[in-house]
Amino acid sequence: MIHLSSQESSPSFRPDFAPNAQLPRHRWYRFKEGFSAGLVSQFAASYLPREGAHLLDPFLGSGTTAVEGARLGHHVDGIETNPFMAFMAKVKTRNYTKTARLDLAALECLRSRKRCDQFKLPRDSTLVERKGLEKWLLNRSVALRFEQLRSAISSIQPLARRDLLLFALLSSVEEVANARKDGKCWRYKKNWESLAFSSKSLDESFAAKIIHFIEDIEISPKLKGSTSITQGDSRNHFHKAHRNERFYDGILTSPPYLNSFDYTDIYRPELLLMKAAQNSEDLRRLRLRTLRSHVQVAWKPSEPLGIPRLAEKIEAIKDAGLWSSRIPAMINAYFVDLDAVVTQSSQCLKKAGTAGFVVADSAYAGVVIPVGEILGEIFERRGFRIEKIHTFRQTRGNGNHQQQSKDRLNEVMVVASFRGN
Ligand SMILES: C[S@@+](CC[C@H](N)C(=O)[O-])C[C@H]1O[C@@H](n2cnc3c(N)ncnc32)[C@H](O)[C@@H]1O
Repeated sequence: MIHLSSQESSPSFRPDFAPNAQLPRHRWYRFKEGFSAGLVSQFAASYLPREGAHLLDPFLGSGTTAVEGARLGHHVDGIETNPFMAFMAKVKTRNYTKTARLDLAALECLRSRKRCDQFKLPRDSTLVERKGLEKWLLNRSVALRFEQLRSAISSIQPLARRDLLLFALLSSVEEVANARKDGKCWRYKKNWESLAFSSKSLDESFAAKIIHFIEDIEISPKLKGSTSITQGDSRNHFHKAHRNERFYDGILTSPPYLNSFDYTDIYRPELLLMKAAQNSEDLRRLRLRTLRSHVQVAWKPSEPLGIPRLAEKIEAIKDAGLWSSRIPAMINAYFVDLDAVVTQSSQCLKKAGTAGFVVADSAYAGVVIPVGEILGEIFERRGFRIEKIHTFRQTRGNGNHQQQSKDRLNEVMVVASFRGN
């Protein structure tokens, strides 16, 4: 039986990204869906045996586990399927020579006026202003300037400096876009038409980012530990990375929540701008490599996972007139995918190594899916002992994709240690 606890912790032990906005490197990109650096440091202090431990995050996102783990002197492997997030995590975790001559390189790019007016975008794209659109994310002058800067950056050497500049440029875009991400979708800014963002706005936003980057690299050019980041699908990837050896002392991660949030869609502007996707088919292929937590593609059906409590919940919502008929299958598939990740964790964690998974309950048609508790059951079936389920907060859910419930939804970290087999 799983015990639910809510112990007192340090104020920065939080499942959200907000405290990171003040921290070197973490602040380079406001990643709404990330967790706090404090969560990583507290997990490391509680569950990693010593400095220099091996830690894995199979849903790396913006790289919080990697940046913070390496800052503390650990060796962190990360897996992330989305090319933009994988790129961000790589740039945030590199060691740099102090000044990195970033200021001069940025100035060189800002002086570039090479003519650039080509956008090859999907026909249905509302990314850039064009005739016939009622709303668009980037004004034409902003988008043209983006291309000009991107083209200038592409000839900067060495690669580490070029990547820093490209990442600074990509992370400047939201500031001068007509909408911003609000954790659910892109929402148009108030009076967006009168904001009149221009090429100059992008230059200013880019220059401000570069100043942050330089300040942070000056403070900590090197992270004490090391990182290795792979772009890949962690459902079928990580347990073989170290020749099937039991390699990791800990696994800390936050898989996408079961709330139909589609990362590929929300990060589509960045994916198109960095040319990691050229069209809708590329985006579809990327979606197929994500955990099945959304319904934006038709997934192959999966066999029921065989957890009675899960089967009951799926049965309860099956005929409830949900906003998508794919939701019951998605819920089963979500846990099948988590099971694959937990199974691999059991194959690569050392005996007594600890896994911490941050997840949240969901509700569909008023029926709560107790994600933390079902995940706990999966851990137990795969040879783990539940150490605790730490409750961070209880929310009313996300009215956008899930359906609200009268009950509060728990956002938790399931902490489980591997008993060996
Ligand atoms: C909740 S976010 C992780 C946030 C991270 N803890 C941070 O602080 O930035 C979940 C991440 O999992 C990634 N993801 C989804 N499916 C994946 C898969 N099959 N393999 C690897 N990463 C995946 C998403 O792209 C997203 O970046």
